[in-house]
Order: sequence, then C-alpha cells, then structure tokens
Amino acid sequence: MYNAYFGFRENPFNLSPDPAFLYRSSQHEEALANLMYGVQSRKGFIVLTGEVGTGKTTLLECLRDYLDAQGTEFAFVFNSRITPAQFFEMIAYDLDLRCDRKSKTDVLFALNQLLIQQANEGRTTVLIVDEVHNLEWDVLEEVRLLGNLENPKIGKLIQVILSGQPEFDEKLDSPNLRQLKQRIVLRCQLKPFILEDSRDYINSRLAKAGMPNQTVFGDELIAEIHKRTQGIPRLINAVCDNLLLNCFALTLRRATVGMLDEICQDMRLEWSDGEKKPALPTLLEVKRA
Ligand SMILES: Nc1ncnc2c1ncn2[C@@H]1O[C@H](COP(=O)(O)OP(=O)(O)OP(=O)(O)O)[C@@H](O)[C@H]1O
Ligand SMILES: [Mg+2]
Repeated sequence: MYNAYFGFRENPFNLSPDPAFLYRSSQHEEALANLMYGVQSRKGFIVLTGEVGTGKTTLLECLRDYLDAQGTEFAFVFNSRITPAQFFEMIAYDLDLRCDRKSKTDVLFALNQLLIQQANEGRTTVLIVDEVHNLEWDVLEEVRLLGNLENPKIGKLIQVILSGQPEFDEKLDSPNLRQLKQRIVLRCQLKPFILEDSRDYINSRLAKAGMPNQTVFGDELIAEIHKRTQGIPRLINAVCDNLLLNCFALTLRRATVGMLDEICQDMRLEWSDGEKKPALPTLLEVKRA
C-alpha cells in the first residue's frame, strides 16, 4: 500500500519466510552453516530450536534453496499435525517415489532404493521436518527409525533436520524419546536479536526493498521497537509495517514514538524494561492475524 510512497520495490516487512530477505545475524549465520555442514558431512540428526518468530522456517527455506542448488534430494514436512500414514505419503510425494504412496511398506522399499542410489552417486538425501514440537510420538518414532537407514561404508543415508519451538528440547527429555535424543549429533538454537541486530535487521530489510539509507526510523525509535518487540523478528516486522502505514496515512517521512505507542496498544504488546519476559499470548495473536 505504501510502497510507491516510499519508493520500495516490494514490501520490506513481509511476514513470509523469504530467503531473499535473510538478515545474517551471527546466530542465523552460524545456525545455517551448521545445517549445511551437518547435511554435507552426513551427521544424521540435527535439531534447530528457537522461540516463536525467531526465523527457524526462514533458515529452512534458505537450506531448501541450498539443497536445490546442490541437486540434493529432500523432503520437507511442514505440516506436523499428521498421522504416520500421512507422514509417509508426504515423503513419497516430495521425493517423487514411484510406489503405492498409501502403503508404508512400499514407501519404505522405494525410499531405501532411492537412498542407496543417491549414496552410490555420492549424494545424500535430506528430510526436513518443521514445527516438530507438534509431532505425535508415533510419527517421531517413524522419524527415528528412518535414521537407522545406513551403510557401513558411507554412513547415514538420510540426514534428518528437526526444527521447532524450545519445548521440543523438553519433549526430547521424556523417557520414550531417549533413543531419538541419543541420535542427535548437532543442535542449533535461535535467540531473539540483541539491539544491534534489531537495528541492522530493520536497515537491511529496508535496503533490500529499495531504501539503502533509511531515515524513516531514527535510532531512538529503533531502540524502542527493539525493547517492545523483545528482539523477535516477526514482531519487529509487524510493528515496522504498521509504522510505515501510519507515515503513509499521515503523509509523513519519519515514524515517531507516539505512533509506536498506539501500534503497541493495538497489538496488545507487553514488554518489561528490565529482565526479558516472553510475550507469548501476543506472539500467538500476531501469528494468527
Ligand atoms: N534472519 C532473518 N532475516 C530475515 N527475516 C527474518 C529473519 N528471522 C526472522 N525473519 C522474519 O521474521 C518472521 C518470522 O520468521 P519465521 O517464520 O522464519 O519464524 P519461525 O521461528 O519459523 O516462527 P514459528 O515458531 O512461528 O514457526 C518472518 O517474516 C521472517 O521473514
Ligand atoms: Mg516456523
């Protein structure tokens, strides 16, 4: 709506996990490097956790681009409210397995053949599962069993990336998941941004959208945005998008703390000046909106 007014090529604060807008904070950079290294070196199970809205799916989308560029076969399970049967169907669909996709035995047989063929060609195969904290135990057990597919000479035939909210780490501590927990060889974690990252993140998104030297958000305002969003990228996007909209509606070129006050009230954002406390109800509301 305000793109023409500010001269943006596209919306700078889109809420979709778009790799083209990736801001490489040191932790995002490190997590992405770990995911790529884990896949390349056939590490087996890799876990990526982070609070709601910190960029997990964005990183998985970056990994997807990387795997595409490498010509590596992968399946991406993004809907975690599934039964074991649906899980196998999704894998078969993504990997284009020629078999009866409704038969677990057929899928496993075809998958095994694909994994061996890929391994013989010096390639690996990847399974990415997002929102893994929602997966039912029986599906998690199937995921674990897939990790057993290995060749004594080559190592793990399938690399499994499990991404989800921090409660997944707690879930892994439960006795019936200890076998899965033991297989995890690499863990990455995303935390909310520190102030410098929030500032660079906002500037980087504006620059990528076509405003290299932005003057819409002053330093003081950015510090307030950081405090009130607690450095959570999704909330920063929602707040900045609203600020730009306000500027456009009032034909102003600079956003103000007054505008931010109103937006935070509308979004029912909660923050504390001292120790951080997660504003979970607000995050969920923003996600649903
Ligand atoms: N490093 C980053 N660079 C660019 N944009 C980011 C980054 N991290 C997060 N975002 C943006 O923040 C928003 C939320 O990111 P994303 O959906 O990846 O979070 P998530 O951790 O998967 O959240 P959820 O727990 O709700 O699934 C998206 O708009 C995304 O583009
Ligand atoms: Mg996500």
